Amino acid sequence: MKILEAASDMRAQSATWRLAGERIGFVPTMGNLHAGHLSLVERARQRADRVVVSIFVNPLQFGPHEDFERYPRTFEADVEKLAALGVDAVFHPAVETMYPRWPQPTVVRADPDLAARWEGAARPGHFDGVTTVVLKLFNLVQPDVAVFGQKDYQQWRILSRMVEDLDVPVEMVRAPIAREQDGLAMSSRNQYLNARQRAIAPALYATLCRTAEALLAGSPVADALEAGTARLQEAGFDAVDYLALCDGDTLEPLAVVRPGAVLLAAARLGTTRLLDNLLLDEPGG
Ligand code: PAF
Repeated sequence: MKILEAASDMRAQSATWRLAGERIGFVPTMGNLHAGHLSLVERARQRADRVVVSIFVNPLQFGPHEDFERYPRTFEADVEKLAALGVDAVFHPAVETMYPRWPQPTVVRADPDLAARWEGAARPGHFDGVTTVVLKLFNLVQPDVAVFGQKDYQQWRILSRMVEDLDVPVEMVRAPIAREQDGLAMSSRNQYLNARQRAIAPALYATLCRTAEALLAGSPVADALEAGTARLQEAGFDAVDYLALCDGDTLEPLAVVRPGAVLLAAARLGTTRLLDNLLLDEPGG
């Protein structure tokens, strides 16, 4: 497995594969890989001849008071896991490679309607940072197919819109959420939880499931969301940032259930924000 740091090395490697007629699959990550990331890698492997994984903790998507500095960096362990899966190359650029003009980089603005709500409202500028880094990674890796996790549903929608609007020649694949046995969606941030918080955390997915059941049984949307929010508070979440039923394409809140609807949730345990979601059309979400 190659470890590439320079932009020119990444481009040259991709050009060689493309010349040989090989399809390139790509999984962008910020490292600290868990089984959820590895399931994305496996999906990329099924759809491509070569698989590239990037590991880059992107400063542009963290707000000034967020966890950029303490974000777990576990490069050696990550590389071992990726080598065991037969990944062809790890792209591990430095900040100067990704943002030659840092701290004043050129920024690609995320679709303002999609980015205004939910995570975007809580984290101003976050999605511009994500859109910018992913477009730059696409330019360097030149993938045919890229795999993203459903856990960050809004990110997925915004990046798909970016690909569509800017005619980026990449097939976007959305992989289902990988969960712990108790239902908690896998996330690098789960390791910030103490034992008490970890015991509360699965209530997020349980609440999404119960709320979906209530909605599908005909409960009015406002009542189901209010009951779900109360359940999260009772379970011990310190704050419920949102529990919302939205249109899966536009992310606009819905007053009635309709095909393509998604339940989105973000709730806090101490300073850790947990995200989860459930697609109402797909059993198991
Ligand atoms: O989902 C993530 O880990 C990040 O937002 C991504 C897509 C790797 C961009 O930094």
